[in-house]
Amino acid sequence: MRARSKHRKSTTWGCNAWSRVSMSTVVWSLIGCLLMLHLYSIVRQRDTIGGIRLHTSHHILLRELEAVEEEDIQIPPPKGKRSPHAAKRRPKRKTTLIDEFLDENSQLRNVFFPDEKTAIDPMKDVGDDSFYYFPARIWLDTEGNPIQAHGGGILYDDRSDMYYWYGEYKDGPTYQAHKDGPARVDIIGVGCYSSKDLWTWKNEGLVLAAEEKNETHDLHKSNVLERPKVIYNERTGKYVMWMHIDDANYTKASVGIAISDYPTGPFDYLYSKRPHGFESRDMTIFRDDDGVAYLIYSSEDNSELHIGPLTDDYLDVTNVMRQILIKQHREAPALFKHEGTYYMVTSGCTGWAPNEAMVHAADSIMGPWETMGNPCIGGNKMFRLTTFFAQSTFVVPLPGLPGFFIFMADRWNPPDLRDSRYVWLPLVVGGAADLPFEYSFGFPLWSRVSIYWHRKWKLPDVWKG
Ligand code: DGJ
Repeated sequence: MRARSKHRKSTTWGCNAWSRVSMSTVVWSLIGCLLMLHLYSIVRQRDTIGGIRLHTSHHILLRELEAVEEEDIQIPPPKGKRSPHAAKRRPKRKTTLIDEFLDENSQLRNVFFPDEKTAIDPMKDVGDDSFYYFPARIWLDTEGNPIQAHGGGILYDDRSDMYYWYGEYKDGPTYQAHKDGPARVDIIGVGCYSSKDLWTWKNEGLVLAAEEKNETHDLHKSNVLERPKVIYNERTGKYVMWMHIDDANYTKASVGIAISDYPTGPFDYLYSKRPHGFESRDMTIFRDDDGVAYLIYSSEDNSELHIGPLTDDYLDVTNVMRQILIKQHREAPALFKHEGTYYMVTSGCTGWAPNEAMVHAADSIMGPWETMGNPCIGGNKMFRLTTFFAQSTFVVPLPGLPGFFIFMADRWNPPDLRDSRYVWLPLVVGGAADLPFEYSFGFPLWSRVSIYWHRKWKLPDVWKG
């Protein structure tokens, strides 16, 4: 009995030992396999962005877009000497880079608004500078004229495989309607430019023109037309334009809607309204993957944003609306989507003067939206606190480079608005966000959104996908 049990025991032990050995072999082999797989995926990831394999040259270019480029701009000494007496009485406040930016006589004027000698001219043989974006330099169209598409947005039209850039055509004199009024240019209309490569732009003319005579018309030149955006409606086959319509004092606070059969217009102006019965100033529209389009606008004296779906034909809002970013005082919304998450870049509300951008994120477009912080990287502190001396207007998705976008902003020039410049920079979604969030017990829920400053940069060739 004992012997049997001994034998049995030893047999059982042998069996257990064997199965333990084989179990641990299996477990270690599995761990080894997993480690190998992990290592392989890391190696692959280093060559892959959003699932596409990249050549080393593209890879280097993408990494270059994420390089942090510093700016060291020295503030010039004040002009003219002050008497020692005056200096003692009231020490002169130190001027900052933003003071210099806002001073049209600043010695740094040419740094913020480089002159025509440095203009980007895609029709000239620019050698190695081909396809490079130079933020804030004058940008010429294919006829050699400065592009006039401020506060703009871009539509990719798959019927013509073309990009269309719509924006405020501001090529007129800047003046104030009254002593304390904001600087303005009379409405001229909405400019449209077409391009295959997002760098060479052909002027398609005014696709919606101002009304010269009828003073009661929304588009009468004495009014305000800002931030036009165009989307295509698959169901009706119409191109639909939404824009901010206002009077010279910004009290009308409405949206205007126009339609066309063609991306290059002419657009027929339909009507204006206060959406959902609320004031609407800076605005944008966003068409989601399921074809539903949304209007997002600053309201309640710009203290909050409102968001709501459009009707199926995109010609009106529905009665569904949510108030978001309440009491945050944001404007200039630019919305985009990445891997199911909605992101929005906004500015503060300081008229034509630049201020700090914020990025917001949401799992559902109707909210809740949460503020993630300032997305600007590089330049210097003042560059980051002023959105590189510019204001958001649109974010362009790049189909071949998931997670990479073009951030479009306006560097407004209030003394001469027609000479406002375009600041286009790479925007990258990836990595952990810096701020913990209310809704997630302090854990970051979304990826960081980063906009990188570059004096010059270009897209790798694979951007089209
Ligand atoms: C800031 C807005 O974002 C611009 O579109 C324009 O309306 C200016 N304010 C006018 O001061």
